[in-house]
Amino acid sequence: MSDADGSTLVWTLEKVLRWTSDRFAQKGFSSPRLDAELLMAEVLGLDRVGLYLDYHRPLIDEELAAFRGLVKRRLSGEPVAYILGRREFWSLEFHVDPRVLIPRPDTELLVELALQRVADVAEPRVLDLGTGSGAVAVAIAHERTDARVFATDTSTDALEVAAGNAERNEVSVEFLHGSLFEPVVPLGLLFDLILSNPPYIAESDLSRVEPDVLAFEPREALLAGPDGLAVIRPLVAGAADLLVPGGVLFVEMDPDQIETVAGLFDADGRWSEVAVRRDLAGRQRCVEARRTGGHPGDEGLRGQASVGHDDAREHDEARERDEARERDEARERDDAQDTGGAEGSNEDDRSS
Ligand SMILES: C[S@@+](CC[C@H](N)C(=O)[O-])C[C@H]1O[C@@H](n2cnc3c(N)ncnc32)[C@H](O)[C@@H]1O
Repeated sequence: MSDADGSTLVWTLEKVLRWTSDRFAQKGFSSPRLDAELLMAEVLGLDRVGLYLDYHRPLIDEELAAFRGLVKRRLSGEPVAYILGRREFWSLEFHVDPRVLIPRPDTELLVELALQRVADVAEPRVLDLGTGSGAVAVAIAHERTDARVFATDTSTDALEVAAGNAERNEVSVEFLHGSLFEPVVPLGLLFDLILSNPPYIAESDLSRVEPDVLAFEPREALLAGPDGLAVIRPLVAGAADLLVPGGVLFVEMDPDQIETVAGLFDADGRWSEVAVRRDLAGRQRCVEARRTGGHPGDEGLRGQASVGHDDAREHDEARERDEARERDEARERDDAQDTGGAEGSNEDDRSS
């Protein structure tokens, strides 16, 4: 290889990075330099800081060949996260591949707000609908080791990836296969918190989706019917039945859908405190709604946190009622005897 002036070009790390990020920029990638560094760090087995310690080192042929292979994949539009097979979310590392949507930084908002809402609830029950890589469920389980976290997805492939990510991050999440609440209902549980980043792109809006996203990420993770609400609509309709009174639901969506979805909550009539939450860029990103009837952690609500608990509670209450009735009846009998005696004495008195 030679320079423009004919001298032999030495491909130092610095030069290769510069050439690559220029090439990525020409392709219109949003973070060309970062992409180039991440791919180079992967080839050299370094972190990004390590690259700068080796900045002027010439690369050997094997390193150049391996790097070229990754650059080619990136130039074809493949996301860096799939090339590397991992993505960071909530400062945790997740394995990702084309079976799952790459978790987005925006979704960390969902996790952050949700954690705030159950901060005072001991051993909260949490449900993540459409878990994909497991990012949300694993992040919650990592922060709240006392929580019991469930997650569902219609994709068995995604659930396999998610289970691997739970194991990788040493947390316990109960993954269930099926649509929305379907696999959860038979468990007879109620939840303090339900979260979801469901598919929400309208099929008619395909042109708004970046071509590389469409080409590489799973369509079932993105598209949701003609108006984009094919999953959100049943989610809003069914969530109230699975939340404790005062339980909270967070749903991520497109800013354009916020008003319609807020209207769905209002029309349902079982929700209070319906609020829109914005991401760091100020865009409206998710709707939060509270199941009417209190706040999670309120005295008495946790006792209703599962149908099983309900049964036990009702049983205890019935026993208490029976005991109270027996006590009352016994007292009435005693009173009647006492009164009868007195009346008798009165009678006796009268008769005397
Ligand atoms: C936008 S991705 C979100 C993945 C992950 N929660 C995240 O934020 O990175 C949506 C996920 O929902 C799943 N999904 C689609 N329809 C579903 C349904 N009816 N019930 C449960 N999961 C569904 C998809 O397979 C996909 O994994």
